[in-house]
Amino acid sequence: MLRLSLLLIAVSVLFECSDKKDSANDNAIEETKLDRQWWKEGTLYQIYPQSFKDSDGDGYGDFRGIFDELDYLESLGITAVWMNPFFESPMVDNGYDVADYRAIHPRYGTMQDFQEMINGMKERGIKFVLDVVVNHSSDQHKWFQSAKKSRDSEYRGYYHWWPAEKGEPPYRYSLFDPEGGWDYVEETDAYYLHTFAEAQPDLNWENPKLRQEVYDIMKFWAEKGVDGFRMDAFQFASKDTTYPEFPDGYESEFIKYHGLRPQLHGYLKEMYLEVLKPYNVYAVAEGAGSTFEDAHDLVDADREELQVAYHFDYVDMSKTPDGYELSEFKEVFTRWDSAFAKEGWIAIFLSNHDNARLVNRFGDTRPAYRTLSAQMLNTFLLSMRGTPYTYYGDELGMTNIDMLTIEEYVDIDAIGKYEAAVTKGEDIEEFMKVLNYSSRENGRTPMQWNDSKNAGFTVGKPWKPINPNYREVNVAEQNKNPKSVLNHFRKMTRLRNEKLVLVYGDYDLIAPEHEQVYAYTRTLENEQVLVLLNFTDQMAELTLPNEMEVGEVLISNYANEVVGNGGKAQLAPYQAVILKTD
Ligand code: BGC
Repeated sequence: MLRLSLLLIAVSVLFECSDKKDSANDNAIEETKLDRQWWKEGTLYQIYPQSFKDSDGDGYGDFRGIFDELDYLESLGITAVWMNPFFESPMVDNGYDVADYRAIHPRYGTMQDFQEMINGMKERGIKFVLDVVVNHSSDQHKWFQSAKKSRDSEYRGYYHWWPAEKGEPPYRYSLFDPEGGWDYVEETDAYYLHTFAEAQPDLNWENPKLRQEVYDIMKFWAEKGVDGFRMDAFQFASKDTTYPEFPDGYESEFIKYHGLRPQLHGYLKEMYLEVLKPYNVYAVAEGAGSTFEDAHDLVDADREELQVAYHFDYVDMSKTPDGYELSEFKEVFTRWDSAFAKEGWIAIFLSNHDNARLVNRFGDTRPAYRTLSAQMLNTFLLSMRGTPYTYYGDELGMTNIDMLTIEEYVDIDAIGKYEAAVTKGEDIEEFMKVLNYSSRENGRTPMQWNDSKNAGFTVGKPWKPINPNYREVNVAEQNKNPKSVLNHFRKMTRLRNEKLVLVYGDYDLIAPEHEQVYAYTRTLENEQVLVLLNFTDQMAELTLPNEMEVGEVLISNYANEVVGNGGKAQLAPYQAVILKTD
């Protein structure tokens, strides 16, 4: 017979995460054969450096600014920081176009500032993950500058060339350039390949000398104390240098053609032996091919290649104002979880510098619900299996800004798409509506520290407009409020840090078809927790599975009873609750 406990949970314990550590239980679990790794157990916090904190008034965030906020980072309970590129760069793609992999762009400070920042993180137990952008370099890199001038340059073979005497090169899709992936260079009468912008020529990974250069760069940073690498756009690195013709219209599934050629695995194994293993660092792959097999082949431990995959199925949802279906959302996360239940490891995220803000896309920005829905989404991210990646500002529930005309955009991606839409004669009003909703610039506005001028981000002119809601949505305000998104986030990281079940526990979905509630259990040996998340602005009811008895509330964003007689859970709008089961 099914009996439900937790009829009355004392109101005082609600909205509190349990401080009681299940130490006896966790120790027992430690004895078992979990492949424990810090990069599985931690919460990664992503910092977009030009938008975090400006210390010198030039309007761009910098290392000193981050250094000044190390106590804040520590207070979040995060384990590691992943920082977007800060290398010397002409900034055509905000630093994803590197002109010197060993030099720091002056806007961020000096190498000494970098070292002090990272040392400060280490003193607080926070590790550092570097963004490695080596599918391509900047066209201003000295390698490319030399290579484009002479076919005999020692760096010519670091890039992909199509000599013009062979005629036009076979069409290649480019993610940022509507005119395609080849560009002509007059000096040497040849075309070079670029998967992204014209100013981002692709590096030739087929060349062992180039690969060695990359490993040396990675060693350089590992020696400075970097603990991990995020391999940018890495699945595109290997190319068939006979440059075969691809079928017409192939770009609709270009990842199948451009992504993960078998040769790449050999290069990754080489990189593992040269860098990852000897320096005891890990690497996460941006993009994981088209299938689960692709992703497993990248990250399963016995492959000795990379360690964590992050793929795009999660973030490809809700790219337009039409939103998404909760059942589809659940299906995507559940599918990926089952595929990695036994082997391999994935990252869990809903936003980053390439996407709009998570509350706009998956939550509710109306004042009554912004806080609750942001708390609910953070509860979700921090209670799934896989390493959670939190993008700066999501711990506050920062939201999109309005940018209604193309003149307000600075991002190469937005401008390229706009030009393509104009060329194709698309409905520009509709295009701008979608861009305003989905542009990644929404996720790059300065961090909101307090309600003073420029949200306390800079005393100068911010490089990007501050979201006008900074007077309500900011760190100082949320620090004071025990019910803020920020304090909920801290409770959630604390809970995750204490409970191995939230890291390694099996995930089991309940009520897959329910269109309001996302419910699942996490189970590790004899410990189980139940996660109940209402994704809507309406009350929701869910009948719990037979035999399930619920106990202590570990965290909730409301102070109400959740489970009543008859095994029915009643959830308030955007309620998020984690309970123990008995
Ligand atoms: C990065 C983008 C960048 C692109 C080109 C991506 O995957 O995340 O921000 O524009 O690579 O480097």
